[in-house]
Amino acid sequence: MDSLRAALCFLLLPLPFVLGAGIAEVIAQTPELSSLNTILTGQHPELLSQINSTTGTFFAPSNTALDSFIVCSADMSVAGGKVADTRLDDSAYANLEGAANVVFASSYGSTGQDSAPSALKVYSGVGGEATITKPDIAYDGGLVHIVDRVLNFPQSCSKTMQQQQLTTLFDAVQKTNYQSVIDTTAKFTCLAPTNEALAGLGIDLSTLSDDDILSALKYHSIVGEVDYSTVLEDGKEYPTLLGPTVTVHKKDGQLYFNDVAVQQGNIITNNGVAHVLSGVLIPPTSNATPTSEAAPPPDGTTTDIVPTPDDQVGSA
Ligand SMILES: *[C@@H]1O[C@H](CO)[C@@H](O)[C@H](O)[C@H]1NC(C)=O
Repeated sequence: MDSLRAALCFLLLPLPFVLGAGIAEVIAQTPELSSLNTILTGQHPELLSQINSTTGTFFAPSNTALDSFIVCSADMSVAGGKVADTRLDDSAYANLEGAANVVFASSYGSTGQDSAPSALKVYSGVGGEATITKPDIAYDGGLVHIVDRVLNFPQSCSKTMQQQQLTTLFDAVQKTNYQSVIDTTAKFTCLAPTNEALAGLGIDLSTLSDDDILSALKYHSIVGEVDYSTVLEDGKEYPTLLGPTVTVHKKDGQLYFNDVAVQQGNIITNNGVAHVLSGVLIPPTSNATPTSEAAPPPDGTTTDIVPTPDDQVGSA
């Protein structure tokens, strides 16, 4: 496993220093970055202008890096998938207490739990997935795998939410000033309900107190280790920032937190990972035990609502 982790890497070149030019101009004028330039100018101009307007260090994947991975495809194809270190250790992309950031590789879908293998994919930042179109081409230094698109740099949790159109969740984060927690806490796992999941519960942020929203957000936050699907064990409980635990289930080709299915797993963020949920996690009330049986995604018939504190309910 460690040799695999060591082997899978971006080939990253620090950019040469060019006076009086933006990053966009440096990329355009550097022959080894011509592929990156073509991709950014042609397919992702907004990303290019975003990169161009940031200050600090930008690690640019070389032409070789953009179509190469050095790892045996058989290692990535195992059920459950593999988490592999990249060389991306710049703190802007890897707020992981010194560790380099990772990609998740699997032929069993984004959670690594699909019941049958399909295309071997590499999952990176903001929900990016690249398919390995030609695996295991041997060269002197290892193996090359051709991927069909560039791997995205990991972004902050809040940027990832916005890119994933998790707008209701992002509104809740903003309303409660929770953004700095999710964006700056190292080793943060963000469980992120979709808009549909929140709408299905009839949640209207304007009618909830900030305390209630914050409690709900904290129940969707795990800190301490980064909970990629590969470390999530069936039946294991993970403490949340709220306090009560969530229980992981892996069953019938699905990954669950409590009884809520993960719709898209292993979105790499700069400080950890995000899993998009098809439902909302309801913290246990003081006397009731949480339901933790794996079940199909809710169809909107649930009667659960976000719990309110026992005292002082509904002061508007
Ligand atoms: C990049 O930024 C520089 C200023 O730092 C600017 O002169 C240049 O026009 C920008 N290029 C692009 C493509 O946005």
